[in-house]
Amino acid sequence: MKQYWQDVDRILVSEEQIQQTVTRIAKQIDEDYKDKDLIILCILKGSVVFFADLLRKITVPAEMDFMRVSSYGSGTKTSGNIRILLDIDHSRLKTSEILIIEDIIDSGRTLSYLCEYLKLRGAKSVRTCTLLDKPDRREVEFIPDYVGIVIPDEFVVGYGLDYDEKYRTLPYVGVLKEEVYKK
Ligand code: IMP
Ligand code: MG
Repeated sequence: MKQYWQDVDRILVSEEQIQQTVTRIAKQIDEDYKDKDLIILCILKGSVVFFADLLRKITVPAEMDFMRVSSYGSGTKTSGNIRILLDIDHSRLKTSEILIIEDIIDSGRTLSYLCEYLKLRGAKSVRTCTLLDKPDRREVEFIPDYVGIVIPDEFVVGYGLDYDEKYRTLPYVGVLKEEVYKK
């Protein structure tokens, strides 16, 4: 059977680089959220690996919650149509600071929608953290509060990121071979 790594053109962010980045971001979060009621909010499914690494490096007390949204149909282009498939527990929104954890920002639509959604429902504060950022692809203006690594406009997989639900289990972030999605 074909292995996932065989469809990877090259490694863009290594396991070591990812861990250094996670450590740096965790330190910033520790500084900024001292004495705050923090909820770290994982955006399923892509962010789950980053989320799990990050929460073990954060030392400030934090609760966790999960949301699942869908913005992509199939393929490598966003539909811009965001649907909530799993929602956060609304009872805590007014008393806690929310930190959204994303895997990657592309058009910016998912995170701007989510920030607006949570604020409209009374969230005390909403900030955003992303492992990867592709600023060249923005369709709506969006600046995340914590950014791991800025990457060029290429479709990447691994470390939670998928193409057609595949490749999430790769331990690094790699560029997918074009022939895989341009069939
Ligand atoms: P945005 O709403 O366009 O910013 O898209 C954010 C979502 O698109 C991310 O949470 C990913 O699920 C997906 N996405 C964007 N770029 C990539 C990529 O290069 N590889 C895999 N998923 C991506
Ligand atoms: Mg995602």
